[in-house]
Amino acid sequence: MHAYAPDLAYIHDTGFTGFVQKAAPGLLRLLRQHGIRGGLVVDAGCGSGVWARELTGRGYDVLGIDISPSMIRLARRHAPAATFRVGSFLSVPLPQCAAVTSIGEVVNYAFDRRSGIRGLAQFFRRVFRALQPG
Ligand SMILES: C[S@@+](CC[C@H](N)C(=O)[O-])C[C@H]1O[C@@H](n2cnc3c(N)ncnc32)[C@H](O)[C@@H]1O
Repeated sequence: MHAYAPDLAYIHDTGFTGFVQKAAPGLLRLLRQHGIRGGLVVDAGCGSGVWARELTGRGYDVLGIDISPSMIRLARRHAPAATFRVGSFLSVPLPQCAAVTSIGEVVNYAFDRRSGIRGLAQFFRRVFRALQPG
């Protein structure tokens, strides 16, 4: 199975970012409610960078990770203040951070053959270790 190629990345970006756009105000509120008013947010499966743009616009640092080079190309355009890496969230090292997000159907994909219950369990353990205490 292949990651989003340029055509599908374009279609997602133009037609399917409504979910993350509508979710952004609630997500920002959630971060603030938990005392996370700045620092690094890692966005796993960042897609075309719509959430990264919201975060950097409010002073957060962002590392966006996506397996699709086409998505990352769009993300770099949309959120130039963020850092992006092409790779799988199942293997890209997670730096110490204030929060990890993953929005709009990401962990259900099987682009990476390590996907599945075990891969996800390992991912969530890595997320736990990467998060600053509290
Ligand atoms: C439905 S899109 C959501 C994108 C973005 N979070 C949003 O809400 O607009 C799913 C994204 O997950 C990415 N993805 C799927 N499996 C991945 C993996 N193992 N590692 C990194 N990204 C992955 C895809 O490339 C795609 O950009």
